[in-house]
Amino acid sequence: METDPWLDRWLPLIAENALDSTVLELGCNAGRDTAHLAQAGFHVVATDISRDALQACHRAVPSALLLCHDLREPLPFADGVFGVIVASLCLHYFDWNKTREIVAGIHRCLSPGGVLLCRVNSTRDVHHGADGAVVLEPNYFLVEGRYSSRKRFFDRAAIDALFGPEWARIAMEEMTVDRYEKPKVVWEAVLRKAGARQ
Ligand SMILES: C[S@@+](CC[C@H](N)C(=O)[O-])C[C@H]1O[C@@H](n2cnc3c(N)ncnc32)[C@H](O)[C@@H]1O
Repeated sequence: METDPWLDRWLPLIAENALDSTVLELGCNAGRDTAHLAQAGFHVVATDISRDALQACHRAVPSALLLCHDLREPLPFADGVFGVIVASLCLHYFDWNKTREIVAGIHRCLSPGGVLLCRVNSTRDVHHGADGAVVLEPNYFLVEGRYSSRKRFFDRAAIDALFGPEWARIAMEEMTVDRYEKPKVVWEAVLRKAGARQ
């Protein structure tokens, strides 16, 4: 697996906020971030829609607790149970209303003061479909994608609209990632659920 050590700089923040050293990871795929988190000493609960991905993740990180889950469905966790949720490159496949619903579900599952670390496609991600031809919604396209036939691309306004006052911003940065053959442009967002920490 190619390296993409984006979580490195956030490990101290994750350690500070993870309840019982546990991290929920959404859209884990074959376990790239799962492995990174487990190696850093966290218990990882990881979800994905793909059973093949979960099998690969299990092989890579046998200690992770894995769950087959479609993000379009409510998260099967109680309110406030996670201090940290990681969602890398898996929140950008949905129409706007569903995207908002998913983010609201993440907010619900975080403890007060809990932290979400996520990355989504940027509208500048031209090598990965940001100039899509078949428009479903603004910056949401029909694509021939590996993980979905639909892909959303975010600009600053969309990020701001998605993460309202119920979130405090820790970091919000557009950046280029070199994990694929061609450079990929993403927004990396680290947000804290508003409210006092437990
Ligand atoms: C680009 S990969 C990102 C994997 C990993 N988080 C990373 O950054 O390396 C996107 C992942 O999202 C998953 N995914 C796509 N649609 C999903 C859905 N509706 N519910 C849950 N997972 C989904 C895919 O199966 C895939 O594993």
